[in-house]
Amino acid sequence: MRLHQCTYTEVGEYLKSSVGIIIPTGSTEQHSPMGVLGTDHFCAETIAWRVGELASAMVGPSLTVGVSEHHMAFPGSMTIRPSTYIALIRDLILSLVDHGFERFLVINGHGGNTASLNAAFSEVYGEVRRGGGANAPDVRCKTMKWFQNPPSEALSLELTGHPAGGHASAAEVSVAQFADPANIKKPTKMEPEFASDDHTFYNSADFRRRFADGRIESNPTGSTPEIGRQLVETAALFFAETYRDFLADS
Ligand code: NI
Repeated sequence: MRLHQCTYTEVGEYLKSSVGIIIPTGSTEQHSPMGVLGTDHFCAETIAWRVGELASAMVGPSLTVGVSEHHMAFPGSMTIRPSTYIALIRDLILSLVDHGFERFLVINGHGGNTASLNAAFSEVYGEVRRGGGANAPDVRCKTMKWFQNPPSEALSLELTGHPAGGHASAAEVSVAQFADPANIKKPTKMEPEFASDDHTFYNSADFRRRFADGRIESNPTGSTPEIGRQLVETAALFFAETYRDFLADS
């Protein structure tokens, strides 16, 4: 179930049997000369939608732009400053709390969002406590990156030879290709073939100096939609289980 494709009556019905919702978050930022700018949100939402099917869970609207300051030296990258992102996430979650949602699982495609997501959760907890006192609802929020789980890591190594978590990894580019054929770009020869795994960088100009074509710890040239399909299924099975445990944990 996708929230934006439900009527309000359908959401009301859903809330009679569940207080859980999954929210996909990503980014709009360069992903090498071969990966589309929307790679991270295509990954997060494709997996979240599949988890929604497997776990009969509501999936909220995708947040397609994130905190991407360090990618701003590449054309097309967009960023939301952390303070804005924290406020945005807080307001979106509190809107849903108003209607009775209490468990928020954010499936995240972009590591740059993580600190702000956790800060937003802290703001949510504070607002709910101050507003509700002893009767405050038991709101709980959790975020996980789609690729940071043992089955997805293992499958990425098996199918691409590399970790899924590199920037413009074959894993994430493959998932975006599976999500939409329009995301399939001609493989480009990359130099070096496998980008450095040194994640050290500071501002956006420094990032571009260190990572000229935008990649970190990755080589997306072998990406295929079929690899993407398998990664989506594996990650979705993991997150369906995680979501069920999250809801059952009292
Ligand atoms: Ni990415």
